[in-house]
Amino acid sequence: MSKNALEIIQSKSNGITPKVGIILGSGLGDFADSIQNQIKFSYEDLPGFPGAGVKGHAGKLVLGEINGTEVAVLQGRAHYYEHGHTDIMRTPIETLKQLGCETLILTNAAGSLLPEATPGSLMMLTDHINFTGISPLFGEKENNRFVDMVNAYNPKLCKKLQDIAKENNITLFEGVYIWFCGPNFETPAEIKSAQLLGADAVGMSTVPEVILARFFNLNVIAISIITNMGAGMSNTILSHEQTMDNAQKASKNLQFLLHKFLKSYSK
Ligand code: HPA
Repeated sequence: MSKNALEIIQSKSNGITPKVGIILGSGLGDFADSIQNQIKFSYEDLPGFPGAGVKGHAGKLVLGEINGTEVAVLQGRAHYYEHGHTDIMRTPIETLKQLGCETLILTNAAGSLLPEATPGSLMMLTDHINFTGISPLFGEKENNRFVDMVNAYNPKLCKKLQDIAKENNITLFEGVYIWFCGPNFETPAEIKSAQLLGADAVGMSTVPEVILARFFNLNVIAISIITNMGAGMSNTILSHEQTMDNAQKASKNLQFLLHKFLKSYSK
């Protein structure tokens, strides 16, 4: 029988047992360069990972160590809007759990619905609104599908990250993320309604991954890089290029925070 993703990774993992998994969003690609003792796997060689079997079109899983904490970094995520599958990240997230991860750190690029959180700033997510009406757990048969989503964003870990931000004079906004399925950006009317619903940031990822992570009993923290104001809140035309430029600006602070967080993680 051919090996599954877990078996392939474990056969080459050199004894690394990651405690923290990290999914890197837009603009954070170079974070993986700071991993020590790297062991890299291409998604295309890991059955069930997005892009598996598609040559030249896949991301990477990197095992290694950052500041004394063993990590598994997923460089590249797939979105619902690419394939129409809400559970596209199920195997990668389940594999992180099976490898030994306790915590999943999610990063993403998002639009801001808070006037004070301007492009280039960082927002830690404290809760979310699933505005799509779909779930990566559709079709699950067992009662563990009824996942409790209270404190889905781990309050203890959120406090730890906010404390690190304060100690280092980095502004880390906190807020509620709303998931729109994309790939088109929102209309100004949608952004206004999202504000009325209580959202502070908007994006096209993360929520299905948080649901899957809680299903697999991983602690979650999530940080958005604010790349733009929500549609209709500023005169700038929304574009993917703008998203990437502003992601680059905030990524230095985010990488700094993640390094400090990992330094204190095992202590
Ligand atoms: N909307 C949805 N997704 C996004 C945005 C946005 O304004 N910015 C970055 N990702």
